[in-house]
Amino acid sequence: MTTTEGPAAQTVAPDPEFAAQAVAKADLYERAAADRLGFWAEQAREHVTWDTGFTDVLDWSNAPFAKWFVGGTLNVAVNCVDRHVAAGNGERVALHFEGEPGDTVSLTYAQLQEQVCRAANALSALGVGPGDRVAIYLPMLVESVVAMLACARLGAPHSVVFGGFSADALHSRIVDAEAKVVITCDGSYRRGKPTALKPAVDAALAKGAPSVTNVLVVRRNGEDVAWTQGRDVWWHEALEAAPPEHEAQSFDAEQPLFILYTSGTTGKPKGILHTSGGYLVQAAYTTRNVFDLRPERDVYWCTADIGWVTGHSYVVYGPLANGATQVIYEGTPDTPDKDRWWSVVEKHGVTILYTAPTAIRTCMKWGEEFPARHDLSSLRVLGSVGENINPEAWNWYRRVIGGGRTPVVDTWWQTETGAQMIAPLPGVTALKAGSAQVPLPGIAAEVVDDAGEPLGHGQAGYLVLTEPWPSMLRGIWGDEQRFKDTYWARFPGRYFAGDGAKRDEDGDIWLLGRVDDVMNVSGHRLSTAEIESALVSHPDVAEAAVVGATDETTGQAVVAFVILRGGHAEGPDTVADLRAHVGKEIGPIAKPRSIMVVAELPKTRSGKIMRRLLRDVAEHRPTGDVTTLTDSTVMDSIRSGMGASAGD
Ligand code: PRX
Repeated sequence: MTTTEGPAAQTVAPDPEFAAQAVAKADLYERAAADRLGFWAEQAREHVTWDTGFTDVLDWSNAPFAKWFVGGTLNVAVNCVDRHVAAGNGERVALHFEGEPGDTVSLTYAQLQEQVCRAANALSALGVGPGDRVAIYLPMLVESVVAMLACARLGAPHSVVFGGFSADALHSRIVDAEAKVVITCDGSYRRGKPTALKPAVDAALAKGAPSVTNVLVVRRNGEDVAWTQGRDVWWHEALEAAPPEHEAQSFDAEQPLFILYTSGTTGKPKGILHTSGGYLVQAAYTTRNVFDLRPERDVYWCTADIGWVTGHSYVVYGPLANGATQVIYEGTPDTPDKDRWWSVVEKHGVTILYTAPTAIRTCMKWGEEFPARHDLSSLRVLGSVGENINPEAWNWYRRVIGGGRTPVVDTWWQTETGAQMIAPLPGVTALKAGSAQVPLPGIAAEVVDDAGEPLGHGQAGYLVLTEPWPSMLRGIWGDEQRFKDTYWARFPGRYFAGDGAKRDEDGDIWLLGRVDDVMNVSGHRLSTAEIESALVSHPDVAEAAVVGATDETTGQAVVAFVILRGGHAEGPDTVADLRAHVGKEIGPIAKPRSIMVVAELPKTRSGKIMRRLLRDVAEHRPTGDVTTLTDSTVMDSIRSGMGASAGD
């Protein structure tokens, strides 16, 4: 990576013209600091329409199980759709859909309302009611947004499973959530080719999922699909048959809104539970302030897939609660050519763009000629999320995509936090390339040492959140103990994020990556343990160790070391077989970049695999301290075999 884009600590002062009109004002910090709960009450009243007003802002008496906006009732879908129609904005475009092959649909808020009502009626007709779980396995389609909102309207928590996950991964998520209905489609388009999606649902259900009564199937690409009579229902038929009006029920602020599975430090993904009122308040407040969103004139585009939390909070709930006009795009950025994103920006006059550093670094690699083909002057705010944005990428993003004018906001948050937590406010904060900078007004974060003591500037430690926040997770689905142990035990009373961090001399926060066995590959969260257990489920594998090695484009890459079972010699197809096996068990995103077959793994005397040493090998560094190894010659033999590692 070049370092021609300038030094790391450079700051960019807010443009005076931008600042004069900015949504966010500096006094937000003062107001929040003076009365944090009062501040959140204000945000809750400003951003959400309550059917019954809340009587208490926060009930933390049963910590770490929070209740926000106690006594308040609302309907999340009404907040995201109906209230904008009622306010006279029914003709405003809610979604500009861009299909990968070039087909487009623009849906107004009034049209979205009708679709959501029909879908809610269709789901009710299939027996879905408040509290029932609905699994959604769809690519980026209008129907995906409609499906999520229809569930929200019914008070039926959705569990969206990323379309890139395998049938096995889908199966375990359906079973864990005991979903009643699965919503999917025949297939989609990927790099110009039709791909199938429904077969994965059929395979998942064939493994046994007694809770599922029906599968709703969106017709997207006309792929031939197998059909299970009595179980499978076409989405378009069900919606046509359903009435276009639906009376929404009002739900308690703590009504579960969704479960979203994410990787933790053990093999089993965690079902992160989010509820309605607090989640919506923080999603809406951050979308408006962090992106300087003016719903009446902005065209907003977050490139995330609905399969990830960013697609929940910053494609569906945050922008729609604000009544924004946004773009959703089905395909990859290089189809039909590497300028596809920029052609979409030009076509729709996108003003706010939110994406991940890995995408920015990929575009850097492709070259400036692709964005240069298009007029990107409509852009006025750029956002980044999912992993560290290195200063080079930050500066390139601002210069090449933002024309050197736009603020770039780096936003730190997690599936668990539900919404952005650490980010600058455009028009207020002097921006610093590479740093997420400051906790948002209303959020309290600290960097602490091993003992939980706050660290001074310049010292690296652990990031903790010291006060509860409205969009915090309410638990792990079906596992209260794991929720307490994972997040609240390391530093009692405080939320342990699992990230390393440090403050610089100005007090700005720099994220330093995960401190646990969670990897971040292209902004996707993967657990080393999950991939290891996928590998050892292969009949040829006796033992496996997985590490995340630094990668210029994807941030980290999965590198695996495996020991084959006695009698199995490495064959010409071993590595390819194992990669395919991980793809089948978890999904293509989890396939290791390289797999090395080894005779031994480096272990401490207590039998713990020393991943640190394997990371040294994977990153082609001299091996660190090996004195705690049972057998220090192990590393020599791994190193000497490294040249033969396949797939790298
Ligand atoms: O390590 C941090 C990294 O992504 C993790 C959360 O992943 P996930 O739950 O999948 O959510 C991603 C989208 C919100 C964090 O623990 N991360 C996220 N944003 C940043 C980041 N690391 C550095 N800078 C960021 N802006």
